[in-house]
Amino acid sequence: MTYPITRLRRLRKNATIREMIRETEVNRDDLIMPYFSCHGNKIKNPIVSMPGNYQYSIDMLIKEVKDLYKRTGINKILLFGIPEKKDEDGTVACSPNAIVPMTIRELKSEIPEVLIVADLCNCEYTTHGHCGTMINGYLDNDLTIKTLVSQSITLAKAGADFIAPSDMTDGRVGAIRKGLDENGFENTPIMAYSAKYASAFYGPFRDAANSSPKYGDRHTHQMDPANSDEALREIEQDIEEGADMVMIKPALSYLDVINRAKKAFNIPLVAYNVSGEFSMVKAAAEKGWIDEERIIAEILTSIKRAGADIIISYHAKEFVLSQIKKGNRV
Ligand code: PBG
Repeated sequence: MTYPITRLRRLRKNATIREMIRETEVNRDDLIMPYFSCHGNKIKNPIVSMPGNYQYSIDMLIKEVKDLYKRTGINKILLFGIPEKKDEDGTVACSPNAIVPMTIRELKSEIPEVLIVADLCNCEYTTHGHCGTMINGYLDNDLTIKTLVSQSITLAKAGADFIAPSDMTDGRVGAIRKGLDENGFENTPIMAYSAKYASAFYGPFRDAANSSPKYGDRHTHQMDPANSDEALREIEQDIEEGADMVMIKPALSYLDVINRAKKAFNIPLVAYNVSGEFSMVKAAAEKGWIDEERIIAEILTSIKRAGADIIISYHAKEFVLSQIKKGNRV
């Protein structure tokens, strides 16, 4: 029955009704806050292209994560490391004294309530900035997997709650699962970056993590932004290889992919609202061109509405703080 019998505006009449029929709500439990950890003491280096984000030395990161947990109740973080030294294939990250395992141990002893997702890739640790071992200018799949497996065991030993491979080589989830299981970490879950696109939206992150490739690009392993059938095949393979959760990244230009994945698989689905998506909002807000708080809420809601169960976002902390300030349920 259509107008004038049906008037959809009846259910938009006031805030109470709108709240009653609201289909999607982003809660603090849905959110993971990313952090960058570096060597040294008392360091809190601003990341210029990502206002409000910093490279933290461990002492400062502990303070920050305590603040996050106390003020917002967010109890999940994603951890990236900035090493002192790099090498050809990223093996520096396999040492128990590498930056991320050290950070995990200290965070776990200071604030065990917070769950730590350890990003697993070589690009922060290689001199050339590629995600693994380069042979004649091409990322060698199987050699790269060897260092990833070794790094994953180091991260699990340090106490990582989740291992999150973000490299997009073929077969790495299965290899990491096997490596973890053989070393007594059969209970450490894998959050796989399954459909990770070769995206220009990672630009600010590469400044933050100092991980830009010195030559070439990541198109031979990350996905072509034009494809979505292929994303489902990537996800399917990761599930078969033992992924406990799967991820789509970036989020906003790929809401259709998130939606397809949600319909096709019944496994917890993560979306990564990446650095470039964050920085565009910040830049426009700084110019006074947008209402930042409302834009952030709308962005996170759209990602959840598309089908994501969990959202990784640099906006996570400020989003929850702004909802609390407004007296909204979060
Ligand atoms: C590591 C990694 C990257 C991001 C997450 N893990 C960078 C890349 O693939 O170049 C990007 C995150 C962001 O842009 O916020 N491989």
